[in-house]
Amino acid sequence: MKSERARRTIIEPFKIRVVEPLPLPSREERDAALRAAGYNLFLVPSRCVTFDFLTDSGTTAMSAAQWGAMLVSDESYAGSRSFEKFERVVRDLTGYRYVIPTHQGRAAERLLFSHLVKPGLTIPSNNHFDTTRANIEQLGGEAVDVVIAEGRDPQSRHPFKGNVDLAKLDEFCAAHRERIPCGMMTITNNTGGGQPVSLENMRGAAEIYHRYGIPFVLDACRFAENSYFIRSREPGQERRIVRDIARETFALADGCLMSAKKDGLVNIGGFIALKEGTWVDRLRSLLILTEGFPTYGGLAARDLEALAVGLEEVLDERYLAYRTAVSRYMAAGLNRLGIPTVQPPGGHAVYIDAKAFLPHIPPQEYPGQALVCALFLSEGIRSCEIGSVMFGKRVNGVFQPAAMELVRLAFPRRVYTQSHFDYILEGVEELVGAKDTIRGLRMTYDPPFLPHFTAQFEPLGP
Ligand code: F0G
Repeated sequence: MKSERARRTIIEPFKIRVVEPLPLPSREERDAALRAAGYNLFLVPSRCVTFDFLTDSGTTAMSAAQWGAMLVSDESYAGSRSFEKFERVVRDLTGYRYVIPTHQGRAAERLLFSHLVKPGLTIPSNNHFDTTRANIEQLGGEAVDVVIAEGRDPQSRHPFKGNVDLAKLDEFCAAHRERIPCGMMTITNNTGGGQPVSLENMRGAAEIYHRYGIPFVLDACRFAENSYFIRSREPGQERRIVRDIARETFALADGCLMSAKKDGLVNIGGFIALKEGTWVDRLRSLLILTEGFPTYGGLAARDLEALAVGLEEVLDERYLAYRTAVSRYMAAGLNRLGIPTVQPPGGHAVYIDAKAFLPHIPPQEYPGQALVCALFLSEGIRSCEIGSVMFGKRVNGVFQPAAMELVRLAFPRRVYTQSHFDYILEGVEELVGAKDTIRGLRMTYDPPFLPHFTAQFEPLGP
């Protein structure tokens, strides 16, 4: 029998027992939806979207085992059996003793940073995700990115483009140690293209943070994909099981923030987990104030049940092989059609380099957002701009573009099959032929923070 690696066809390692219809609106219907949404795909109803690649967050298809676990949940307000099970799974995976559930990742961020961040303080990371950055900045802190130079170059084939620049990090910590309440690392590095961080680099970062007495906190929402990349790409790691690599990853840090909507394989959920108890009393008090009692943290017990099962399922190596094959397959397909993508493809998504694909659209006309709209009109794909809409700055009226103009196609876990991807690739071929007709956009509403969610645009004339 031919090995799975040698075949062209991806085998989805599951059978499908629950299905939902795929919306197939006409081009005219999509056009009307796009206009009504002010050219912002976040504001388009999902019934107008055929392939929803807006995010891999909370969009997972849960397994029969997860649905089954939800039925036997214990919905007690305090000390439920479901919490005990969830806590056991998180402790076993991370090795961290203190587990604080939250309703999603940004709730964990808000809690931790409300405790740690004050005006004038600063938190380094490879790249902060947008909600992480916004939560730090909201409190008057500064979120600093120290990713390696290769991480900013879409065409570099460095196997761990999420790595932090250790020399820069060391310098930064030496200069600002008094102002750093914690140091971070995002695995995988979503903002930089879903790129992994090597174990070697995490060891280096941990050593630096600890040498300066700075606690090290992982943003661990795609820890399983990161661990799988370590196994596939890092010399000396190829024989280890992914769970061991994940455990070592967590052991290097002092705690983590987790949006379980990614590698927790659930539709809602998150947590903070910590090795030491120093911050815990304060965090639990804040949790009670805004999220709920510490044994449910804003979730139903059935959510904790689903998460406890999801955190185990996600470490299945056949699942992770299929998962990473999806983005590899889509990136290769798009590249064959002449669409440049960040190399190598990330774990949860393919990132199209819109600056390179649409060189006729300058950054102030949002080439990424223009491509997002074109992909929707042509193929019914909903994608997300990660460029000047999200990260561009307008300082005293002067536009400062983001470092990259990317369009992310993020793949929900266990939702679409290879024939969906083949169908899309057939359609995108036509879009490539007409790419010179794609026009830029003007922003007509610029919200005060997280602009990509609610900004409005209008297309620029021919
Ligand atoms: N950290 C990272 C690296 C993320 O990618 C996200 C969410 C969060 C934190 C926040 O978690 O959504 O549960 O509050 N990323 C989603 C995305 C939204 O589409 O990439 P959350």
